[in-house]
Amino acid sequence: MPLPNLSVNIAGLRLQNPVMPASGTFGFGEEYSRFFDLNLLGAIVVKAVTLKPAPGNPPPRLAETASGLLNSIGLQNPGLEVFIREKMPFLRRFKPPVIVNIAGKTLEEYVELAERLSEVEGVAALEVNISCPNVKEGGVAFGVDPKMAAGVITAVRRRTPLPIIAKLTPNVTDITEIARAAEDAGCDAVSLINTLQGMAIDVERRRPLLANVVGGLSGPAIKPVALYAVWRVARAVKIPVIGMGGIRTATDALEFMLAGARAVAVGTATFTRPTAMVEIIEGLREYLHRNNINDINELVGAIKV
Ligand code: FUM
Repeated sequence: MPLPNLSVNIAGLRLQNPVMPASGTFGFGEEYSRFFDLNLLGAIVVKAVTLKPAPGNPPPRLAETASGLLNSIGLQNPGLEVFIREKMPFLRRFKPPVIVNIAGKTLEEYVELAERLSEVEGVAALEVNISCPNVKEGGVAFGVDPKMAAGVITAVRRRTPLPIIAKLTPNVTDITEIARAAEDAGCDAVSLINTLQGMAIDVERRRPLLANVVGGLSGPAIKPVALYAVWRVARAVKIPVIGMGGIRTATDALEFMLAGARAVAVGTATFTRPTAMVEIIEGLREYLHRNNINDINELVGAIKV
C-alpha cells in the first residue's frame, strides 16, 4: 500500500500534515526546536504578537488543576518590531507555513498588525486572536459578540491579502453564531477552542491561585467541551475548522477530525511532552495504514451519528 496522504488544505495553505502547535504554548519555536525538527510539523503557529511589547500579567500566572492548567499570561510578547526583526529570521528557516497570531487592544491595532505582517517575508497566514480571556482591553471582548467579531475580521480582510483564521472563544452562549459571523466577514478558517474561563483558590491563604484572579483553562479537562464545539461549528460553517482543546494523542486528534476539524492544534500537552506533536503525526499515519485509508481528508467530519 502506498504511503497514506496526510496533507490537508487550510485557508489556501497546503499543510504536509494536519498537526500544528496551539498559539501561546509554543513561544516562537526556538525552545522546541531543541527537542525535534520543526520541519515535521504541518504548520508553525506562534505566540500572539501585539503592536507594542507586552510584559504580561503579574505572577503567579499558572495554576495546575485536575487534568488541566489555568493560565493568565496576559499576552506577554516582545511586540511587533522585535518579532519581525528577531523571531522571523529564525522561523523562516523552516518549511512549514508560519501562522502569526495577532492580538489588538483596538480594531485599529488589529489592522495595523495585519498590514505590517503582510509585508513580512515568510508570514503565511494570520490567526486573529479574538479570544484571549486574560487582558483588560481587546482579546475576548471582540470574540463574544458576533458584530464585533465581524467588525475585526472585515477590517483585517480589507487590509491584508494573507489568509485569515479567526480564533474563537468557548466563553459564549452560542459559538456557532460567532463562527458564522467571522465566516461572513471573510475569514478563511476558524480555530477553536481557546481556553475556558476559570479560577482556583488557595484555601489556606484564602486567595486566588492566580494573581489575575481568573484565567483560561486548557488541557485534557476541556477536551469534551472542545470536541462538542468543533462538531457544532464544523456543521455551521463551510470554511475549514482547526480543532484544539486538550489534544494529547493521535486518538484525540482523530476524534477532532471525525468531528469535523480539518487540522488540529496541540498546546498544553507539549509542556510535559515536547515531542507530543511528532508522536501524534506518527500515530495518525499508523491509524490510516492500519485502517487502509489512503487520505486523511476522508476522515474529516466522518463521524457516524
Ligand atoms: O494570556 C494569554 O496570553 C493567553 C492568550 C490566549 O489565550 O489567547
